[in-house]
Amino acid sequence: MQTNSTLEGIQSVLSLIDREVWIITSAAAGRRGGLCATWVSAAAIDPGQPIILVGLAPNHFTTELIEQSGMFGLHLLRPEQTGLALDFAIGSGRDRDKLANVALRPSHNAIPLMSDCLAWLECRVFARYHAGDRIFYWANLLHGDCPSAGVPLREKQLFAAANAEQKQALLLNRSVDIALHAPLHLQWKTENLWSPEK
Ligand SMILES: Cc1cc2nc3c(=O)[nH]c(=O)nc-3n(C[C@H](O)[C@H](O)[C@H](O)COP(=O)(O)O)c2cc1C
Repeated sequence: MQTNSTLEGIQSVLSLIDREVWIITSAAAGRRGGLCATWVSAAAIDPGQPIILVGLAPNHFTTELIEQSGMFGLHLLRPEQTGLALDFAIGSGRDRDKLANVALRPSHNAIPLMSDCLAWLECRVFARYHAGDRIFYWANLLHGDCPSAGVPLREKQLFAAANAEQKQALLLNRSVDIALHAPLHLQWKTENLWSPEK
């Protein structure tokens, strides 16, 4: 546990980070869904072999769909598409079809791909690592394009655009996830503790 003054310093550093907001979609066995994600990173040095790495919580509906299909779609949004991003960030696809009112484009691989976005990618998972409260997926990029021009929506713009009700729902989501994930993370950390050779 950090002392408060140390934690404040650390938080002031982390608050400088403003990640892109991605929508990850997937489908399996007649079900489809999607979520909002920031744990997404380009992960290859070779531009001829592009790879993406995503980190997803094991309890999310979208994760369940990727576990079954091994495929997912990735989308960057335009800065004004905050309402769409919040719709994917709040609630579970187990309770409603988050893609019901979303226009889709044809996919080569039966992945739900959104038409109206800044950019999209079709991804096929080739490696997976379960780290307790997150499952990391490494994926090859099969197809992709940028239907719009401009810069992507970032998380600070997203939080600034949320109304009071949406902010409350995001905070609730986060506290439920923290309560659920803390013991999973601790167990994984205990089992995988590493220290350098002396
Ligand atoms: C800004 C932001 C970033 C998020 N990033 C991630 C992420 O990288 N990985 C993840 O598993 N969940 C992330 N979430 C949480 C999911 O989007 C959220 O819990 C969603 O409702 C899960 O939907 P599902 O159960 O229908 O798949 C993020 C939420 C927000 C607001």
